[in-house]
Amino acid sequence: MYILGIESSCDETSASVVSMGDGERKILSNIVASQIETHRLYGGVVPEIASRAHIEAISKITYEALDTAGVTLSDIGCIAVTSHPGLIGALLVGVNFAKSLAFAHGIPLVPVNHVKAHVAAAYLEYPSLEPPFTALVVSGGHTSIYEVSDYTTFREIGGTRDDAAGEAFDKIGRVIGMPYPAGAAMDKLAYEGNSEAFKLPSPAMQGDNLDFSFSGLKTAALNIINSQRQKGEEPNAADLTASYTKVIVDALVKKMNIAIEKSNTERLVLAGGVAANSHIRTALEQLCKKKKVEFCRPSLSLCSDNAAMVAAAGYFEYLRGNFANTSLNASALDED
Ligand code: KG4
Ligand code: ZN
Repeated sequence: MYILGIESSCDETSASVVSMGDGERKILSNIVASQIETHRLYGGVVPEIASRAHIEAISKITYEALDTAGVTLSDIGCIAVTSHPGLIGALLVGVNFAKSLAFAHGIPLVPVNHVKAHVAAAYLEYPSLEPPFTALVVSGGHTSIYEVSDYTTFREIGGTRDDAAGEAFDKIGRVIGMPYPAGAAMDKLAYEGNSEAFKLPSPAMQGDNLDFSFSGLKTAALNIINSQRQKGEEPNAADLTASYTKVIVDALVKKMNIAIEKSNTERLVLAGGVAANSHIRTALEQLCKKKKVEFCRPSLSLCSDNAAMVAAAGYFEYLRGNFANTSLNASALDED
């Protein structure tokens, strides 16, 4: 069946048509309109501007996704929309648009959790991937470890107690002068620095839990930058980025090592925008090799926010009959 996915949880308006079922998992279109250039002027996402930009883009992007896929709304068997978590005003644009389309054309509507959608991107990349597996979602808003027991059942077994990994990259990147979002630029710069140059606290919580805390790391990096600036100096950005990246990578490897042992999993799925980070990817790939665990990570375009992953997750919500009606609301919280 053809599923129309709609995504507007943060700063990307996206619509996609995927074909799922009968052994098929195929992306027919995946149109993403990024607002990054607009938000860059402010050093981060401005929620009100994001909502307005979604309103301006959503109809055009949706019809572009249908046209590119070579289908019309009458071919669509289900509309899947990100309903939570995210920026509430931004989410409401997608939810209301999807509700109107579904109601006007008599198409079933399913709500999708954005974090679960990041994991579902892996189904599109790996056509034979099936649960159970362990998933690590690292994005601008999330750092969470899940035991995925079936397509729609996730148990969170660990995660951040404060900031997300992506936010940690973006914040320090901004302070050392990189445009928003800094993640990809820091990824590159880290290759040019000495990862032992600065001593920074690990974001891995002590003990055999699966939790992280990025706030202490952020503060430590800020203190290094500020104390050098007070002396009229600038820290070596490449060294700081390399050291900062290393403690994040080491923390993720440490906790995923524990997670693999605890859950006795055979597969690890890495998902979310920060899964694009080459240092994280390589380190987790090596860990999986050592542990004899299959490593699955969607390609870069499916790691960052997109509607194909929403459509894929929506297919499994459709199969379990999780339908919404016109009373569907958006929520900022990750509450399921
Ligand atoms: O999943 P995503 O597109 O949006 C959210 O759901 O949050 O993730 C965006 C985050 C941003 O923080 C961005 O800096 C980060 O992903 N990111 C990266 C890389 N590419 C994107 N972080 C580290 N290394 C990268 N290569
Ligand atoms: Zn996301």
